[in-house]
Amino acid sequence: MKKYNVAILGATGAVGQEFLKLIEEREFPFNELKLLASERSAGKVIEFMGKDYIVEEAKPDSFKDVHIALFAGGATSKTLAPEAVKRGAVVIDNSSAFRMDPEVPLVVPEVNPEAIKNHKGIIANPNCSTIIMVMALKPIYDVVKIKRIVVSTYQAVSGAGKEAIDELTDQVKAVMEKSPVEANILPGASLPKHYQIAFNLLPQIDVFVEDDYTKEEMKMVHETHKILNDYTVGITATTVRVPVYRSHSESVNIELDGPMSPEEAKQVLAKFPGVIVEDNPAEMLYPMPLYTSDRNEVSVGRIRADKTVPHGLNMWVVGDQIRKGAALNAVQIAEYMVEHNLI
Ligand SMILES: NC(=O)c1ccc[n+]([C@@H]2O[C@H](COP(=O)([O-])OP(=O)(O)OC[C@H]3O[C@@H](n4cnc5c(N)ncnc54)[C@H](OP(=O)(O)O)[C@@H]3O)[C@@H](O)[C@H]2O)c1
Repeated sequence: MKKYNVAILGATGAVGQEFLKLIEEREFPFNELKLLASERSAGKVIEFMGKDYIVEEAKPDSFKDVHIALFAGGATSKTLAPEAVKRGAVVIDNSSAFRMDPEVPLVVPEVNPEAIKNHKGIIANPNCSTIIMVMALKPIYDVVKIKRIVVSTYQAVSGAGKEAIDELTDQVKAVMEKSPVEANILPGASLPKHYQIAFNLLPQIDVFVEDDYTKEEMKMVHETHKILNDYTVGITATTVRVPVYRSHSESVNIELDGPMSPEEAKQVLAKFPGVIVEDNPAEMLYPMPLYTSDRNEVSVGRIRADKTVPHGLNMWVVGDQIRKGAALNAVQIAEYMVEHNLI
């Protein structure tokens, strides 16, 4: 089997570290592996599959001879992705820099793999909450068109990176020890104000953009339209950060064009690759973030009729946003390209 030179940008971060786990777990056919981060991490040693790798500062020339560049370095994508493409690499990018670019496919491999072949060097991974939601929408949408979606998210702190994970731990410890609580990261490191996340909920993720919606909320709207290639679906979102380490949860209410019973929804969801149905009220069975963490599948439960509209359904959708919401989705795109000779 052909092997590929792979670079991971952001290798020291939450998503970058998950890339490494997945490459090993899924036996991704790599030849050389380059681990890239900022100058802060240059020289750091990361042990991977019995070998020591030295982290290098990411620069345009880091991508020379790289076939596949997995990007999880935040805002650096904007400048480095075109440089990597210039040097012949295919970039699969976790940032939001190129998602809405009409030239860039925005892909969830179970949902719209056909978009991959149109790439011009960069393929974008959607926002983590969008990926988790569309995994539960697509099997239903393929049977009955969705008219309207009302989604509220309960997003884990790891969605904001490694510093936010540490911030939750430090704050919980400070509260328990009755010491002063410091807040420097959430709801966003670059925002002018910060709030305590421990024992709290923050109804703001990213900056406010239009009509008092946040950028995270509008990403869910615009990206879902692009992935489904249907701009007629009404979508409204409220995104909330919760003091959970890992896995995003979403309350998803949908209005359909025609009838679909909760039983039928359960059947189509259970058949869809990458989705599992965990739904048995009699046994108190439903998805929870603690138990979906480190799992590849998106889990759906609490599926029931919304009788306030002619054809309504409610679902509770939970998935590991570092896995399916980021690293796994990107690795699946790379695997698809390898299988279909698209690299
Ligand atoms: N966490 C999630 O659940 C999630 C889900 C979907 C998408 N994403 C996206 O994935 C990307 C990475 O997120 P993350 O959560 O892994 O963040 P993170 O834990 O904060 O890690 C950020 C990584 O980027 C590197 N980096 C930062 N500035 C850099 C620079 N100037 N040049 C090169 N590397 C630089 C960091 O290196 P140093 O260690 O040297 O600072 C680190 O390796 C972001 O775009 C994020 O929006 C994250």
